[in-house]
Amino acid sequence: DWVLALLAVVLFPVAGLPLRYFSKQLRQTGRRMQEGIGRLNAMLHENVQGNRVVKAFGQEGYEQERFHEHNERLFRVYMRQSLLRAVPITELLAGIAVAGIIYYGGASVIAGTRTQGAFIGFVITLFLLYEPFKRLVRTNYSIQQGLAGADRVFELMDTRPQVVDRPAARALHEVRDAIVFDGVSFAYEPGEPVLRDIHLRIRVGEVVALVGMSGGGKSTLADLIPRFYDPTEGRITIDGVDVRDLTLASLRAHIAVVTQFTFLFNDSVRNNIAYGDPQRSMDEIVAAARAANAHDFILELSRGYDTHIGDLGVRLSGGQRQRLAIARALLKNAPMLILDEATSALDTESEGLVQEALERLMANRTTLVVAHRLSTIRRADRIVVLVRGEIVESGTHDELLAQAAEYRKLYELQFRDLDVPEAAGAEELLGEEGQARAGKAC
Ligand SMILES: Nc1ncnc2c1ncn2[C@@H]1O[C@H](COP(=O)(O)OP(=O)(O)O)[C@@H](O)[C@H]1O
Ligand SMILES: [Mg+2]
Repeated sequence: DWVLALLAVVLFPVAGLPLRYFSKQLRQTGRRMQEGIGRLNAMLHENVQGNRVVKAFGQEGYEQERFHEHNERLFRVYMRQSLLRAVPITELLAGIAVAGIIYYGGASVIAGTRTQGAFIGFVITLFLLYEPFKRLVRTNYSIQQGLAGADRVFELMDTRPQVVDRPAARALHEVRDAIVFDGVSFAYEPGEPVLRDIHLRIRVGEVVALVGMSGGGKSTLADLIPRFYDPTEGRITIDGVDVRDLTLASLRAHIAVVTQFTFLFNDSVRNNIAYGDPQRSMDEIVAAARAANAHDFILELSRGYDTHIGDLGVRLSGGQRQRLAIARALLKNAPMLILDEATSALDTESEGLVQEALERLMANRTTLVVAHRLSTIRRADRIVVLVRGEIVESGTHDELLAQAAEYRKLYELQFRDLDVPEAAGAEELLGEEGQARAGKAC
């Protein structure tokens, strides 16, 4: 029956028209849902991690309010999503189409232009079609939501890392001569240089201390060596080879980094020390822990080297965490070492132990140390003063103290009354100002 068939073929797609609109809406809300869940998770994480700060500042109410707000927003997106899924507009239109066909067909049977059998047969076929059509619509909703999720996943997967191996990159096998900064400038944001025309040569085995006011670019300069960022201008070479021509893996295998922010993984003490090389033997791990002055306190933990850092939570002191990080660096046994204010967050007692551990770590390694301890600085072969991204002075402690204005200023502010006396000379200097540990460090 071509008339009825034509009606069905024309009317059903019309019922499907709103589907386009709904699909788009569903994808949008699906996306917003994903984002909302991400935000809420990030906030939960923040509040659990930073619970001490929240409590200390009495901001429980504020945080609760913030959480409630995000939660409420997410709830509204969920509601909208459910509403979109629940609106039976497609079914309604399909129903109207069916009704129209029945009305037209029924009228023609009554008028005698069509036999009852042909009409009933057609209607049954139509109803058989109706159910799969409805299911197709439902399935489409699920697909749209899945697509919204997939969009976000692919967006992340397609993000290109800024620092990658060059196609012809080769492996670094040994550092024989020096690490050289050759006219290096760097900016995180275009037009806002953080480092300007840095020329610096760190010979193998040398200890270079980097000093300067907070925000001067010390950490940034240190970050360029393992290529956490690439210079905006100029280049960094190792034995004459641009670090960008070396494979990242081989470059980083030659560098150990210890910073003031020690990061420990939610894993055993042992695995935290052997991080990056699970094949290490227990003997090697213990030796590293001993050299890092960590062995004794590890043995006092409930399950020794098998104690889970996650279980310890915040029970490890800053100095203990630091010594675990040093043990990790010792075990890595890389020839180049970057220390970034590695003792800045410590109390006097831990500091001695950490300082001792650091010294063992620095032995026979090419070291760049961002420092504010006079003891560390005095031991450096050379001190480089960084002011607003530029190297303004360099030399030994005595040389600089005798003639360098910036260094003397820093010394007055940061080092003089902060350092534990060690050499007789230092004691003398300290005597003048007393031993007040004024909180002047950056
Ligand atoms: N990831 C970053 N993105 C943008 N700016 C940054 C970033 N890290 C540091 N900076 C900025 O670069 C400057 C130098 O910072 P940094 O190298 O950490 O100094 P320092 O270690 O000497 O205190 C500062 O002005 C700081 O705000
Ligand atoms: Mg820094």
